[in-house]
Amino acid sequence: MDKIKYFSENINVQSKTIILRLDLNVPLNEKKIQDKTRILLSLPFLKNLIVRKAKIIIISHLGRPKGIKNNELSLTPIYKFLKEQLETNVYFFMGDINEETKSKFSYLKEGEIILLENIRFFKEESQNDENFSKKLASLGDIYINDAFSCSHRKQASIHKITEYIKEAYAGPLLEKEVNAINSIVKNKKSPVTCIIGGSKISTKINVITNLIKNVNNIVIVGAMANNFLTFKGFKVGKSIVEKNSEKIIDSIFFEAKKYNCNISIPGDCSVSKDFEGSAKIKKYDSIEENEIILDIGPKTIKNIENIIDQSNTVLWNGPAGYFENKDFSIGTLSIAKKISENTSKKSLISILGGGDTISAINKGKDKFTFTHLSTAGGAFLEYLEGKDLPGLNVLK
Ligand code: 3PG
Repeated sequence: MDKIKYFSENINVQSKTIILRLDLNVPLNEKKIQDKTRILLSLPFLKNLIVRKAKIIIISHLGRPKGIKNNELSLTPIYKFLKEQLETNVYFFMGDINEETKSKFSYLKEGEIILLENIRFFKEESQNDENFSKKLASLGDIYINDAFSCSHRKQASIHKITEYIKEAYAGPLLEKEVNAINSIVKNKKSPVTCIIGGSKISTKINVITNLIKNVNNIVIVGAMANNFLTFKGFKVGKSIVEKNSEKIIDSIFFEAKKYNCNISIPGDCSVSKDFEGSAKIKKYDSIEENEIILDIGPKTIKNIENIIDQSNTVLWNGPAGYFENKDFSIGTLSIAKKISENTSKKSLISILGGGDTISAINKGKDKFTFTHLSTAGGAFLEYLEGKDLPGLNVLK
């Protein structure tokens, strides 16, 4: 199998223009950054390039603006934060990417940075458009993808761009992520448990079906569990449910039986009439029409803790509840605490992935210990599934 080409310290970058694809897709609330993890992790490599006198053009997306400029999804707050953190000139470019853009950047000096506005404001980005990719590539001499968390996306600044630039590499953060996940997958010890949250079952169906063959337990939490509960005939009030998911769930149970994988779904929950309300513990047979399930309940937490105690490897993606409201962060923080304790005391192998999961556990007061904390959500799951990620494939 071809190997990914990693950027090395020996490559001379002085005075060269580096196009650096980062994942600065961080949660924002009223233009305030809610969790800085992804930005903070990107800083050491940026500082390294600055010291080595590269000229740096950063590309990132934020949210899913679908090719339309949207002030709510501007990278301005991230630009301001980068400016505070870096002792160099950092510029923000909000213009179009066309034939003139390169000459507009001629002011960029060694060790300085231009951050491009949200690349998904251009519809061509998500279309992996050839012309757009060419224009992006023309802005620099070397392309570096240091965004493992976006590498499952076949998009211009991740994928097609590499066809039009002479040198393309994976950055150090991407390298660290890939090595950590590879080593855990290789060295995983049974029983293996996978905890999956989030809402859309259709986006995770392949990963769940594939994991069934390789793990002993799959624990379903978060809004995803609502689909399983509806399938079992429970009424879930106003909770998020994905339409037409019965067939998918039926086949998940069928496969699980075949491969002897235990599927665990919540037995009780925490509800409220609205997202900002306070929590009420309920069993699944008593949820009222105007209630929303926003977290797992105490019995479910206990059950998950027992499963973690019996596991030697735990993979986790997706929070257990609406952690943005403290009342509904208990499930997620309890899972994090148990995994963390067992990682430090019982040498549990643990790996966590996803922007939301990280932001949820950072909201708690406690410091947690995990074998590896991946910034990636979807990419992490697809990589675990054994898929050839398009963004990594082009760097081989
Ligand atoms: C993520 O948050 O997982 C990455 O930034 C990718 O975002 P996307 O799912 O919108 O492509």
